[in-house]
Amino acid sequence: MRIAVLVSGSGSNLQALIDAIASDPSFGAEVVLVLADRPDTGGAARASTAGIPTVVVDWTDFTERESFTQAVLSEVVAAGAEGLVLAGFMRVLSPPVIAAFPNLILNVHPSLLPAFPGNRAVEDALAQGVKLAGLTVHFVDEQVDHGPIVAQRAVPILPSDTRDSLHARIQEQEQDLYPKVVRAFCRGEISVKDNVVMLKEAL
Ligand code: GRF
Repeated sequence: MRIAVLVSGSGSNLQALIDAIASDPSFGAEVVLVLADRPDTGGAARASTAGIPTVVVDWTDFTERESFTQAVLSEVVAAGAEGLVLAGFMRVLSPPVIAAFPNLILNVHPSLLPAFPGNRAVEDALAQGVKLAGLTVHFVDEQVDHGPIVAQRAVPILPSDTRDSLHARIQEQEQDLYPKVVRAFCRGEISVKDNVVMLKEAL
């Protein structure tokens, strides 16, 4: 499966994916494009090092989400992507992209959704005093941090945790789980019926 990976930041999830694909001949994926929503991301630098085509669609060049989304859609379609993997991508995509890739866009979010959507998920979990944080891999629908849930892992919160220490432990789990989900996705081992995800085999 030809996939495009969308990034905004350091790209640790992208790197885990690149490494997993490189070490597994049966992974079933080719990253045909890494798209960044801003210049000078670690993610785009990692992609260049790995010899993957990169493009920047700078969100600050656009006044509306719709035109930004259209530019993103043009790039991923031109690259021949059959699926999209959001890896720390901080922009909300508009319905035309979701419609063009129905249940074909994966995202990883650092909370146990539906708890704590949004870009302060780790802080919000700490502020609420929950004892289990975690991460969710889900298909993207029209709502933010929402859509059929593919996989989750819990990460216990320690009394000494800060935002950074907790996020670091969540990211360790992301880097293990997300490539496994993407592999199953690319091998056609994930199906969705009535918003419920079924996996051919447990991850
Ligand atoms: C991850 O923690 C992910 O859950 C969140 O953004 C972070 C991205 O990290 N959506 P990276 O760019 O993959 O290093």
